[in-house]
Amino acid sequence: MEININHISFQYPNGYPALRDVHLNIPSEQHIALIGHNGCGKTTLARCIKGLLHPTNGEILLDGKSIRNEKISSLAHKVGFVFQHPDDQIFHQTVYQEVAFGPKNLGMSGEVQVEKIKEALALTGLENEKTTHPYDLSLSARKRIAIASTLAMDTDIIIFDEPTAGMDHKELTLMKVIFQELRNKKKTIITISHDMDLVLEQSDQLAIMAAGQIVKVGDPVILFRDMEENFSEMVAPQMVRLSQRVLKNNKTAKTVDQFVDFLIQ
Ligand SMILES: Nc1ncnc2c1ncn2[C@@H]1O[C@H](COP(=O)(O)OP(=O)(O)OP(=O)(O)O)[C@@H](O)[C@H]1O
Ligand SMILES: [Mg+2]
Repeated sequence: MEININHISFQYPNGYPALRDVHLNIPSEQHIALIGHNGCGKTTLARCIKGLLHPTNGEILLDGKSIRNEKISSLAHKVGFVFQHPDDQIFHQTVYQEVAFGPKNLGMSGEVQVEKIKEALALTGLENEKTTHPYDLSLSARKRIAIASTLAMDTDIIIFDEPTAGMDHKELTLMKVIFQELRNKKKTIITISHDMDLVLEQSDQLAIMAAGQIVKVGDPVILFRDMEENFSEMVAPQMVRLSQRVLKNNKTAKTVDQFVDFLIQ
């Protein structure tokens, strides 16, 4: 599903202008990463796409249709949003109930519900925690519950707000498998992250935000190379920095394996 963010601005009730004339096009089936310093407006933008906040100016279109007058319940069929803080999202007594809530609410048939829940629990490594109380699990496991709840809803668009913060290596690997699975399913993905290595490896397009605005949009490798070459307040991922210092063929590796390939070519 294509997302068109058409010159939106947003002010919080206290008057703070968190988004200023944000214009961004996200083609269907693309994985876009949204980066920028703390407080630049990433979560606010995600909330607008999910319909939790309404832009003060401008509008957001999904497949050409404005969401301005669309009910939250209707948007829930299209946009999934994994909150930055899982505890803002979790409110059931068991992991299973938590993950089951979305599919049930969307009115999926019993059989489809069971299938979606099972798949989401498997992808997030939670099959053995079905009866566990979410608050008996660690913060990163609760993050995986929030991810599972959203995956189970099988929306065309999925927004991840800082999905890997606090995750260990095993969980990070799970997350990469989830991204691949969503790609296979032709989903449109928005990942908000401070993890530049992840963003470089996983995203097709990069949008850099600063002070409520999108300041740059483009190919992640090109934008990160530019970040490394020119003075920037942000630091490019390790692989980009290393590639630029070491590789002679002007190539940029996204992963360690690719770096070695490029080195010995
Ligand atoms: N409810 C609110 N009322 C007033 N200002 C708010 C509110 N929520 C957020 N803000 C402000 O809006 C700005 C953007 O916040 P937002 O949460 O979108 O940033 P962010 O880019 O997601 O930051 P982070 O990387 O820390 O998650 C910040 O300056 C924040 O303090
Ligand atoms: Mg945020």
